[in-house]
Amino acid sequence: MKIAPFGVEEWMNKYEVDAEYNIAETCVESLTVKELLNLSGEAEQKIKEIKGMKLTYGDIMGSKDFKKGVCSLYENVRPENVLPSHGAIGANFLLLYSLIEAGDKVVSVFPTYQQLYSIPESFGAEVKRLELKYEDGFLPDLDKLKELVDQDTKLIAINNPNNPSGVMMEREILEEIVEIARSADAYILSDEVYRGLDPEKDVPALVDIYEKGISVGSMSKIFSLAGLRMGWLTGPAEVIEKCQLHRDYTTISNGMIADYLSVIALENKDKILKRNSKKVNEQLAVLDNWIRAEDLVEYVKPSGGTTAFIHYKLDIPSEEFAKRLYKEKGVLTVPGTAFGRDKFLRIGFAGNKNELVDGLALLKEFIAENK
Ligand SMILES: Cc1ncc(COP(=O)(O)O)c(C=O)c1O
Repeated sequence: MKIAPFGVEEWMNKYEVDAEYNIAETCVESLTVKELLNLSGEAEQKIKEIKGMKLTYGDIMGSKDFKKGVCSLYENVRPENVLPSHGAIGANFLLLYSLIEAGDKVVSVFPTYQQLYSIPESFGAEVKRLELKYEDGFLPDLDKLKELVDQDTKLIAINNPNNPSGVMMEREILEEIVEIARSADAYILSDEVYRGLDPEKDVPALVDIYEKGISVGSMSKIFSLAGLRMGWLTGPAEVIEKCQLHRDYTTISNGMIADYLSVIALENKDKILKRNSKKVNEQLAVLDNWIRAEDLVEYVKPSGGTTAFIHYKLDIPSEEFAKRLYKEKGVLTVPGTAFGRDKFLRIGFAGNKNELVDGLALLKEFIAENK
């Protein structure tokens, strides 16, 4: 099966490990195992339990406590409608693998996480792109969406908040997208890995507002635990059934220890989200001040998530820009071309604060040297 190279993952695989100032990272700065166990207030007891675990396949469909924890992130989700996966990347794949066949029609927002359009394309589906434009604040043009969706559309793929722009669609827009999908009886896959950081700014999960909505989430970004490789999808019973059938061929189960540690995080989610929303707000302010002081750079200020897609006004193609920035200054960003847009860079602003501050200062120097 042929598939397009995954632009952003190829780039990160090549440069991430040795980056001196990594401002490309999308996770809120990861927690250590010790920090996570300490959140539980009974670290010693938890370590004892891990030591005593017999390493079987565990609960094939995920532990009861894990599913209960995931349900607590939604208004109307029941444990039997939660399917654990290998990260959100595994959930997106499983859903597309289970639902999409050659000849199916799919509409995907663009730019976004490439899985959402390249996987259906690789299965032989016809994928139409709904362009999210800088001049529209990276929000969808819903008239355009109406034009792209017809009675044969099987699935609409969205990503909220969006990677790379960090722009979050509010309830009104989501409800309009649901109406368009409903008129075609189409599914909506909503990749929501960046949703839920700040309860005050929360937007609904697709699964809570649409009978054919599928929401994907994970422990990686807002819970700072990418190393657990735990994610999930949740949706209507018939979708879960199809995904379960396909999951037997790809997953068996998730790791028992990862499930166990995820439960600790979900039981202590208020503490993690408090730490993380504070950090994201503070570091977005750092980025925002930097942008305001820099004439050659502009952006749509992110309203959710951990990434920003910044536009620079220099005559350098974005891949060359990002490579030279990395070589000359040790600063890792992601070139816009990994998301199909030149003259943009994706910045992740929720990682290590010192790296963000130093990385942005070096980026400023680089811009000054090249204008
Ligand atoms: C929009 C989006 N979906 C899914 C993923 C994969 O995340 P996970 O670590 O949960 O597999 C990412 C990671 O960058 C992402 O940005």
